[in-house]
Amino acid sequence: MTNTPTKNAALISWVNEIAALCKPESVHFCDGSEEENAKLIAGMVDSGTLIPLNPEKRPNSFLSRSDPRDVARVESRTFICSLNPNDAGPTNNWMAPLEMKAKLDALFDGCMRGRTMYVVPFSMGPLGSDIAHVGVQITDSPYVVVSMRIMTRMGQGALDVIGEHGKFVKCLHSVGVPLEPGATDVIWPCNPENTYVTHFPEERAIISFGSGYGGNALLGKKCFALRIASAMGRDEGWLAEHMLIMGVETPGGKKTYVCAAFPSACGKTNFAMLVPPESMSDHKITTIGDDIAWLKPGDDGKVYAINPEAGFFGVAPGTNAATNPNAMAAISKNTIFTNVALTDDGDVWWEGLTKTPPAHLIDWRGDDWTPEAGRPAAHPNARFTAPLAQCPSVDPHWDDPKGVPVSAFIFGGRMSKDMPLVFQAFNWNHGVYLAATMGSEATAASVGQAAMRRDPMAMLPFCGYNMADYFAHWLDFGRRLPNPPRIFRVNWFRRDADGKFIWPGFGENMRVLAWVLARVDGRGYGVESPLGWMPRHEDLPWEGTDFAEDVFYDLMSVSRDAAAAEVRQHEELFDKFLDRLPKEFVFERELLKSRLWRSPQTWELAHDPT
Ligand code: OXD
Ligand code: MN
Repeated sequence: MTNTPTKNAALISWVNEIAALCKPESVHFCDGSEEENAKLIAGMVDSGTLIPLNPEKRPNSFLSRSDPRDVARVESRTFICSLNPNDAGPTNNWMAPLEMKAKLDALFDGCMRGRTMYVVPFSMGPLGSDIAHVGVQITDSPYVVVSMRIMTRMGQGALDVIGEHGKFVKCLHSVGVPLEPGATDVIWPCNPENTYVTHFPEERAIISFGSGYGGNALLGKKCFALRIASAMGRDEGWLAEHMLIMGVETPGGKKTYVCAAFPSACGKTNFAMLVPPESMSDHKITTIGDDIAWLKPGDDGKVYAINPEAGFFGVAPGTNAATNPNAMAAISKNTIFTNVALTDDGDVWWEGLTKTPPAHLIDWRGDDWTPEAGRPAAHPNARFTAPLAQCPSVDPHWDDPKGVPVSAFIFGGRMSKDMPLVFQAFNWNHGVYLAATMGSEATAASVGQAAMRRDPMAMLPFCGYNMADYFAHWLDFGRRLPNPPRIFRVNWFRRDADGKFIWPGFGENMRVLAWVLARVDGRGYGVESPLGWMPRHEDLPWEGTDFAEDVFYDLMSVSRDAAAAEVRQHEELFDKFLDRLPKEFVFERELLKSRLWRSPQTWELAHDPT
């Protein structure tokens, strides 16, 4: 290869090896410049992969429509190829590395014929941060290149960090559709029958074939920043988590940083950009990240967090000026939309954007759509890809290489019943247990009997190693900290007998956050319940709302029978992990049981004798 902009021998030889295997028409090393980006975009506009939006309504923004068979992450085709199957654990798909490599070698042979092979250096985290790590993605998808430029620190800066001798995570990707001579390309090439998203934790490598969508293809995100990074964190004493990072400024100017983990599609982006209610406008939320946090203990014993990403890859449906005004501002320009609907005046639309849908749209498949169509105009997993820096609530330290000190972890699933609005763990080990037993309903459609899956730390699809070892790593991590962050469980999703959400959520979640901060500061009152420390009604700020006291207590109550049933499910979950399960969890469960057995049938927080 000529004109290689690096002297890193390992990088050069890997690029040569992949080029020889994939046989692309040409190889392009990405520098991340404006000119390069403009050229790639122009090429995709020409080929129909990107549709320019109306520049007056949505400057420098584009719509792409994926193949309808390639619309989401594919957990069933995602593999952790550790040497030992027990190191992948019972919650991951596993295949022996050599067996998987043989399969992939056959698929990659000649797979980039007729296409350009892009070499994309990127940093996950601020350039040069000692919490950050670098990677190089090889891909034949220009959509992936321009998306990686938004989602990561991509280009020459990252290549400089790799330098002549630096290590990098190898990320190989192909859409898996060679272009034979004379053939015309489709607008979204993909190969769903042969899709594989594979991870080699010992080698710190990722190989993904057949999909051009989101987490399957933008390999810095779920594949690197969670699956591979979680394994790196295990070996090196840090954590890679499926968490948002937010700053909370209280009256008087004190700033506290909080991380929160929710399973996919539980409103993490909304929570990360929360706008407090009018009556609490003396509080301010700032945003560092909406999806992933890397956390490392500092020399001062505090835990420092960075957001490895530089953009949002957010779910569009449901986002509007009321649910998330900051996101709406963040996606007002320089944004790539995927699988949303197109309005007649060249803007975007999705379910929930406006109360009344436009009379006519082009739907996410490119077909005419009217409100009578009886099908969604945007795909439910339609996304926006936008730079983090465009968010009005962006925290001034979002790009600080040092990271920000974290004082609390919040964990929340989607539970229609039997899980209180908020409570606090008694201590670190109990908090890790609460996080590890987190459950979430798969859909909100069937009230009361919705299928629920356990999603420990919201990491079930993203932990790159055996989850039992991951629990042990969490326990160790806290043990080494002099004053570990406080741990909380929340549940915004409880429903009444008619299936309606009881808690208004969104900005009102600030009231719950206020109690979290008060507890972190040692100011907030908490009642010791069998589940953990709980606030009484008077411990949350209620100015500006008529949310009734008895409804709050309904939200907080759990019957002993329901809690006992929950504990039995913990046992079922943990049985899967056999002898790798930390002993602490067995004792935590017994402690929880004994607290429950001794409590009244319905535990009455409202009538605490104090
Ligand atoms: C995401 C997810 O896309 O969690 O962030 O699925
Ligand atoms: Mn996510």
